Amino acid sequence: MRILVTGGAGYVGSVCVEFLLEAGISVVVVDNLSEGHRAAVDERAAFHRLDLSDRGGILALFQAEKPDAVIHFAANALVAESMRDPSTYFRNNAFHGIHLLDAMVATGVRKIVFSSTCAVYGLPLKIPIEERAETGPINPYGESKLCFEKILRWYSEIHGIVPLILRYFNAAGASERYGEDHKEETHLIPNVLRVALGKRRAVEVYGDGFATPDGTAIRDYVHVRDLAAAHLAALRREQPSLYNVGSGEGYSVRQVVEMARKITGVSIPYDIRPARRGDPPRLVANIFKLRQELSWKPERSRLSEIVESAWRWHRAHPDGYPDDEREGERQRETAT
Ligand SMILES: NC(=O)c1ccc[n+]([C@@H]2O[C@H](COP(=O)([O-])OP(=O)(O)OC[C@H]3O[C@@H](n4cnc5c(N)ncnc54)[C@H](O)[C@@H]3O)[C@@H](O)[C@H]2O)c1
Repeated sequence: MRILVTGGAGYVGSVCVEFLLEAGISVVVVDNLSEGHRAAVDERAAFHRLDLSDRGGILALFQAEKPDAVIHFAANALVAESMRDPSTYFRNNAFHGIHLLDAMVATGVRKIVFSSTCAVYGLPLKIPIEERAETGPINPYGESKLCFEKILRWYSEIHGIVPLILRYFNAAGASERYGEDHKEETHLIPNVLRVALGKRRAVEVYGDGFATPDGTAIRDYVHVRDLAAAHLAALRREQPSLYNVGSGEGYSVRQVVEMARKITGVSIPYDIRPARRGDPPRLVANIFKLRQELSWKPERSRLSEIVESAWRWHRAHPDGYPDDEREGERQRETAT
């Protein structure tokens, strides 16, 4: 089997590519390196630096590489940025994805696993959240992902594409080789660990007046290797499917900081900031469907294991991945 992975130089993509290769699957990565890193792409995978906006380039790539299926990670994924710049989010996360779908239709590729998000649920009424819960995104990021889910539905109905939609909760942790290195880091665990490494003075905690036991927001963290396993499991499906992917457990911001203190041995100060508009107190996945239909279960998603794996990676890469511009130049010279 040969899988085309968009966004394979990013955080979740890089770990998933490694996971697929370990399973004996051949992988072609497409990434424009706007956020990802060349050094995060396993050397056993083919790599093409290409932007999804390049409709002709994407079609030519499908014709040359002949993938059997697609995993589509490439996206802009910052909620706050989407509130300032919705145009980029709707263009990149919804419109540019159409080029991918048209290339699939033109070359007869049927299956696509799509990285959606719990942000499609907005402010959920019931916790844990089931897939059948009403959607109602409260920012353009979530709305752009929901748009693409809807586009997938029509390509399925009209062209027989098989969409396998995974609504992730919070991806976290690292593999031995690949971890989280974003230009603008908004995720809690890497930010906490940067304080432990002495790269930041304190963690910013947004709100301590939520209706939760310790007042801070509760989120569901799933280990990025467990998330990768869900993609592999989803690829076995022959019919359109939609799953939440989380651990099914919620941890508060304070619990995460406590765990990081224990694992790193560093005190990790934090500053309480005002809660952000529209931040729900609690987001936890109901993962019954994923367990039931794909026989998937979270195997590495205990909070301690997540934080330990992330800490190992951050300690080994205190400045993140090596300089990307140099890597980018090298890649442009060798790109097909
Ligand atoms: N990380 C999470 O907790 C989380 C949660 C829910 C959903 N998701 C979704 O999962 C996916 C991966 O998330 P991530 O944290 O790894 O993000 P990331 O930013 O690390 O990775 C995205 C990758 O896509 C590439 N990319 C973006 N636009 C592109 C384009 N037009 N053409 C080619 N490449 C492009 C970037 O360079 C980057 O390497 C995203 O779709 C995100 O919305 C992530």
